[in-house]
Amino acid sequence: IHNVVFKSSDDASIIIAHEIAELIREKQDCCVLGLATGSSPIKVYEELVRLHKEEGLSFANVVTFNLDEYYPMDRSNVQSYHYFMHEHLFNHVDILPENIHIPDGNITQENLHQYCIDYELKINAFGGLDFQLLGIGRTGHIGFNEPGSHYNSVTRSITLDHLTRSDAAPAFYGIENVPKKAITMGIGTIKKAKRIVIMAWGHKKAEVVKQTIEDSITADVPASYLQEHNNATFVLDQEAAEELT
Ligand code: F6R
Repeated sequence: IHNVVFKSSDDASIIIAHEIAELIREKQDCCVLGLATGSSPIKVYEELVRLHKEEGLSFANVVTFNLDEYYPMDRSNVQSYHYFMHEHLFNHVDILPENIHIPDGNITQENLHQYCIDYELKINAFGGLDFQLLGIGRTGHIGFNEPGSHYNSVTRSITLDHLTRSDAAPAFYGIENVPKKAITMGIGTIKKAKRIVIMAWGHKKAEVVKQTIEDSITADVPASYLQEHNNATFVLDQEAAEELT
């Protein structure tokens, strides 16, 4: 993994959006994108929407797979990742609805296991992820692969860490309202992507950024598994990079 540092997260986000746009234009047949939610990618999506509206970038050839969704979670809920993606990207571009894949937070317990297997198979059926966009949690999670996740893990349900739930608490008006579980792509799923861009903005991420890049690979910091990927870039703003030696 190599890292690049930008003055501001806005500048960095625009560069990332332009890389994605170039890939979409190149892969006319089918461009498979793995997407993240949360605060980190908001400006990237904003720029992609601008490119669609002002510069004719079409998403007609784009297939997307989102990393994760809370479980249980209704898709109509404003806190759902389903809602987030439509609000920030899908409602504003010409992607075909059938090309959008987001883990279904409404799947029954009984069908959950098979559902996760099918999600994984569907990614493979499209030829795998051409590009995976990632944020990083303060636990070192990517997707919702919390500490302890195996490097070969696949799409599955997972119990969220306390720190992850407390970071999500404001959006849910209290930690007691944050779901205890999620469905997430695995580390193995993510690592198969041909290209990975992981973003971190702000002081609060500085510590985990250092652990991810400079410490040894460990299940305690699942993002550190990305050190083994041959085409992964960590994009940082100055604050997130401040602990790096
Ligand atoms: C979201 C996801 C998470 C977030 C991470 C950082 O789909 O997979 O790993 O990327 O929790 O969240 P923010 O960007 O809100 O700091």
